[in-house]
Amino acid sequence: MTTFEVHRARGPFNAAFFSAIGPIIEGGLRPYKERVFADLPRTVVEIGSGVGANLPYLLPGSTLVAVEPNVPMHRRLRAAADRRGVQLDLRDRVAESTGLPDGSVDCVISSLVLCTVSEPAGVLAEVRRILRPGGTYRFVEHVAARAGTPTRFLQRAVRRPWAWTFEGCSCERDLAGSLRAAGFARVDIEPHRLHTPFVPFNTQISGVAHAPVDELSVPGAGIDP
Ligand SMILES: C[S@@+](CC[C@H](N)C(=O)[O-])C[C@H]1O[C@@H](n2cnc3c(N)ncnc32)[C@H](O)[C@@H]1O
Repeated sequence: MTTFEVHRARGPFNAAFFSAIGPIIEGGLRPYKERVFADLPRTVVEIGSGVGANLPYLLPGSTLVAVEPNVPMHRRLRAAADRRGVQLDLRDRVAESTGLPDGSVDCVISSLVLCTVSEPAGVLAEVRRILRPGGTYRFVEHVAARAGTPTRFLQRAVRRPWAWTFEGCSCERDLAGSLRAAGFARVDIEPHRLHTPFVPFNTQISGVAHAPVDELSVPGAGIDP
């Protein structure tokens, strides 16, 4: 079973880093997030919520089921949810094993998470398992640049210090390929490029993956609040 090892120094460092840098990154991501996170339902499951970068896309009064195993993120995440007026159901678990019932969820969201999980295919299988038929997985993620480009060269060159600093993050993943192979009925993907100083991270995708509608739902299944 996949586990997440909280690092004594890098856990708190990343919590502080994403609190400080988040608003800068958010400036570039906002137009894409506004599209894919538009009209979120009143209850949303988020994998890898971090310190709450996506809370502004939830309406006050809604519920966020946050699957976040990195405990140093929790204090800031709770405070951000309070500020937004969102009810937080925080689960100290990995996205590979959320513990949520089959077919119980209308919508799963993530941003900048599939780069860091140990196995994106395992996480996407879990997302598929918990989504109800016709449910959506909405994502904004960073991916490998096109082969042969300077950005791709840089992503390769910095892979070790980058992964060390950002707790396993890889800038070399073909996540569009992973999403298309994950058994969704339809996957709409928009590639885009940010213009931040963090060049290896600037090649991104955003979009929506739709669970098939013809699967059996689980009668009575739902998230236990
Ligand atoms: C780069 S941060 C992004 C945080 C936030 N989504 C954002 O956009 O700012 C990656 C997040 O994924 C979380 N994470 C890493 N491995 C995970 C796993 N296996 N399951 C769930 N979350 C995970 C980390 O703890 C961290 O909060």
